[in-house]
Formats: sequence, C-alpha cells, structure tokens
Amino acid sequence: MDLHYQTGFGSSFATEALPGALPQGRNSPTRCPYGLYAEQISGTAFTAPRAENRRSWLYRIQPAARHEPFEPLARPPRWTSDAAAYPATPNQLRWSPAPMPDDPTDFVDGVVTLGGNGGPDEQSGVGIHLYAANKSMADRFFYDADGELLLVPQSGRLLLATELGRLEVAPQEIAVIPRGIRFRVELPDGQARGYLLENFGAPLRLPELGPIGSNCLANARDFQTPAAWYEDRAGDFMLVGKFAGDFWQARIDHSPLDVVAWHGTHAPYKYDLRRFNVIGSISFDHPDPSIFTVLTSPSDTPGTANVDFAIFPPRVLAMEDTFRPPWFHRNVASEFMGLIHGIYDAKAEGFLPGGASLHNCMSGHGPDADTFEKASRADTSQPHYIRDTMAFMFETRRIIRPTAQALASPQRQADYYTCWQGLRKHFTPDQA
Ligand SMILES: [Fe+2]
Repeated sequence: MDLHYQTGFGSSFATEALPGALPQGRNSPTRCPYGLYAEQISGTAFTAPRAENRRSWLYRIQPAARHEPFEPLARPPRWTSDAAAYPATPNQLRWSPAPMPDDPTDFVDGVVTLGGNGGPDEQSGVGIHLYAANKSMADRFFYDADGELLLVPQSGRLLLATELGRLEVAPQEIAVIPRGIRFRVELPDGQARGYLLENFGAPLRLPELGPIGSNCLANARDFQTPAAWYEDRAGDFMLVGKFAGDFWQARIDHSPLDVVAWHGTHAPYKYDLRRFNVIGSISFDHPDPSIFTVLTSPSDTPGTANVDFAIFPPRVLAMEDTFRPPWFHRNVASEFMGLIHGIYDAKAEGFLPGGASLHNCMSGHGPDADTFEKASRADTSQPHYIRDTMAFMFETRRIIRPTAQALASPQRQADYYTCWQGLRKHFTPDQA
C-alpha cells in the first residue's frame, strides 16, 4: 500500500489528494475547488496560545453534520470512563498478557479498560486500556469526543484510515489520533493487540528540553502525519461515537473518510520509538525517568503532567559505582507500565510483552530480588548494553484507579508482591 506522510510535530501541515483542492489565501471561500465543503475542527479552545492551538480546516465531500441521529450503542463495550466509580488500591498490581479474542472482534469492541482517572467532563485525566482485535472495521467508523487516543501496538500492525489520511503502525511504533477525528482500524496481519491511552486532558506534545538543548529525546522531524487521502463511497454505514463516557451510533450513508484536502495542526501522527535519542548519566547515579519522556500532556500546574508517555528503549549504561537498574522508589505520581518487546531490566521474570503493571501513588516498588542481587554484584567498570527491549510508562499526577474487571481478570498475577519477598536483610550495624 502506498502511504504518504509529512514530517514534523505540531506543524501547520497542508496537503491535498487532488491538485488544487486546497483553497489558497482564505479558509472558507464562497465556493471551494471540486465542489467540496469547508469545515473547521478545533481540538483546543479558539483562543488557546498559538503554540498550543490545534485546529484544522477540512475540504470534504460531505460535512460531518450529515448523518442520522445518534442512539445508544446496543452492546456497551468493556470500554468505560467513570473512573471515580472504580475501586482504588495501594497494592502493587501486575497482569499477564491478555489472550486474543475467540469471536470476531473489531478494534472498538476489543478495547478493555484497565484503569484511569479524571474524566471527559472535566477534560482532565486518562483512560488506560488494552485492545485485542481480530476483525478489521469495514462498515463502521469511530471517533472519540472524550479524548485523544495514543495507540501503542504490541503485536500486529494497525492500518488507521482517518479523515486526514492513512497511517500504518507496527509494534515499536505509536500513533496518536486527536479528539474527534473519525477513523477505521484495519488489521493487515489479521489480528492485533496493544495498549491504548485515552487522554482527556491537554493534547500530547513534545516535552521542553531545558538544559539538554535543542536536540535529543524524540526529535520533531521523526514524527509522521499522513498526507490527504479520501474515499468517495456510498453505503449503509454506522458512525460510532464515544461521548461523555458512553457509546453512540448513527447511520450514515457515505464514508466519513471523505476529506480531499486539509491544512492545520489538529492531525494524527505516528512515531517510531526506536528513533528516540536516549539521554543518560555518564558519571554516576542515573537521572529520573522523566528523561525518557516521549510526549507529555501538561496539567494546569507547571511541571506536573496530566500524563507523560515515557519509554525504556535499548541503551548503554555506563555509570560507575552505580546501582544501574531502576532504583527502589515511591512516587507522588502513579505509574502504569507495559512491555512492547523483549525484557525489562528491572524484573527478572513475570513482566511479559503484552503484560502490564500498576504502581500507584506512594506504593513502594523497584527491582525484584534477583535483579537486586545481580546488580549489586555487577562490575560497573564496564558498560552494560541493554538491547532488544522496549517498555513504556503512562505516568499520571492522579491516582490510577483499576477497574473491577481488571482486578478480577484471570490475567492478574495475585502473587506479584512476592517478587520483593526474597529481598534479604543485609544490614550489618558493626560493619560499614
Ligand atoms: Fe516506578
């Protein structure tokens, strides 16, 4: 499949699938080229500061308003957003990978909520979900009015056919679909599984770099936004919307993926996590994991994110006389982790690709007993190469409440806490 991308992050993109389809000099002329309708979609307040403003102008065959009334979706999926009703727990939690579905299941039906906080109404917080699907969406389309979607594939590629163009994402890549953008998920490999972050807060953006300077971490040029692509297709389709935590559907007699040209900043994008330029210590100790931040959704409090998306990619640990794995810690933030590929360096076993862990506010965690013993004896005069791995974290300022279905899941590892029970007492008060 021939897919075309534009590069950059937060740029004002401009793209057309037919020559001359983009009006020049004005956004909404009396008559648009090719008889298209002009329509604006705003992902931030009209008056948001210029650097944070997200809006796009779409030139489409039919406006988004043209569909039949929404009705509640007949079968409520296992995708929920009422985080205040979820139970909270300070216990360390971990899950084994979820199985692929037995029955034909498309992306929307294949989403299962593991936890979250905040909600769509307050435009703050996140939903944390897994997806597992074995059926491409064909005659139905989806949009999320509640938040933007960060897709983290773990197994199987996704072809995201969106209003603004098509993106293909594979494991170790991510994709972000902004709030409100309509799309269809196809499965080029027949089935797919991964993680899904639903961000109710400010749109994800690149973090500031401070003293690091103008390069490193995720570089803007490595982000890819699709070129305009459209389908002019009539049929008996369903438009599924997530709105205020509930699901709705409306009949629509044409594909909503009918945008022939567009320009602006409210647009989907993808990024290959293997392009992340890792920063780390070259003397002793190691910095906080914030140096692994790929994208951040800021909150109203400076320096305190609604959610950070961080990764732990292959890297070289060169610090001398340093306990090199992630240290024991407690944190005011709450941390949800997943493993996309390989082995995570803080755990000897039990944390598998497709699995997940949750360590909530001030719940102690860190390396398991085996990892601690090994790292304490390590020869740190030599660099340690961590290869063939890709773990990630959704870190939020608010407590992550697991859903009842996550707590009752057969994948939950009830014995997770035992990974720290083997930590021996080494204290010798008479010997420094
Ligand atoms: Fe942690």
